[in-house]
Amino acid sequence: MKTYKIGVIPGDGTGPEVVREGLKVLEAVSKQHGFSFETVNYPFGGEHYKKTGETLSDSALDEFRTLDALYLGAIGHPDVKPGILEQGILLRTRFALDQYINLRPVKLYPNVWTPVKDKGPEDIDFVVVRENTEGLYAGTGGFLRRGTPHEVAVQESVNTRMGVERCLRYAFEYTRKRNKENKLTLCGKTNVLTYAFDLWERVFHAVGKEYSDVTTDYAHVDATTMWMVKNPEWFDVIVTDNMFGDIITDLGAMVQGGMGIAAGGNINPEGVSMFEPIGGSAPKYTGMNVINPLAAIGAMVMMLEILGETRAATAAENATIKALETGKIKSMSAGKMGLTTSEVGDLVVSFL
Ligand code: IPM
Ligand code: MN
Repeated sequence: MKTYKIGVIPGDGTGPEVVREGLKVLEAVSKQHGFSFETVNYPFGGEHYKKTGETLSDSALDEFRTLDALYLGAIGHPDVKPGILEQGILLRTRFALDQYINLRPVKLYPNVWTPVKDKGPEDIDFVVVRENTEGLYAGTGGFLRRGTPHEVAVQESVNTRMGVERCLRYAFEYTRKRNKENKLTLCGKTNVLTYAFDLWERVFHAVGKEYSDVTTDYAHVDATTMWMVKNPEWFDVIVTDNMFGDIITDLGAMVQGGMGIAAGGNINPEGVSMFEPIGGSAPKYTGMNVINPLAAIGAMVMMLEILGETRAATAAENATIKALETGKIKSMSAGKMGLTTSEVGDLVVSFL
């Protein structure tokens, strides 16, 4: 029997509560699908940083490389200056493990409220493939004459041929495998970012030649946000750079019903990937058993898919859909679900 080694970083705030439900689903589904798993817990997060001054240790990063996957709850602490934990834990892991894809499905499930009027689950079902190691996140740039009236601040978008190409290839492969409309849309800004997106566009068309079964399309990022609201059914798979991907996937999360249900994966197709609910640590709901665990359960489904446990992933996703179809989960928002965090997890498990 295959045993997976899963690193778990429950993290801050409500992170531990939602991770518990994701692992509950994993436990149930693993028994039914003939695999097992062991977890290794890591304490990283705001509390650990306050106690030790450490965000992540080098030795932990080395251990991460020996895992089958990482499962993260949430990072963010009201007493820690914004940026420290995000950069020290989340971004550092993405870069160190070369998780060059950020995969974010935008899927409206039945009985989930969307702010987009007159659109339903048949209209909102696409996936964003975000480049996850380059662009404006590369951290190049700097200050000149900082703190003076003549201060200059430069932050550069770094786009390498290799980084762009591997992301685009992943997106083409993903579109083909998804086999929905076989349509891949490049989201960029070729009319203004004439260097970065010139490269993206050239490589998009060059790689696209190898995927004649995939239809290609292009949209500027501003138009993309417009269409995500006006005509979300136009999208099948969207591929974009790191910064644009960050922005449009928050819009995507809202369109699919909110942070309570939006999941993401930081993927290294040849290495160790990390899965997370994309909402934050929601400090004010900590320990109250009212946070929505469906995003964390969705992240678990993505983990199962990447591990190759496709049948288990489908079973867990279908159980989530059935749980929603009961109508017992009244809202995706914390405190308004009509059920507790653990009851939502139990409801999903009951349909496995
Ligand atoms: C995300 C988050 C991160 C990002 C932050 C927390 C650094 O917003 O995963 O989308 O910008 O990538
Ligand atoms: Mn973001």
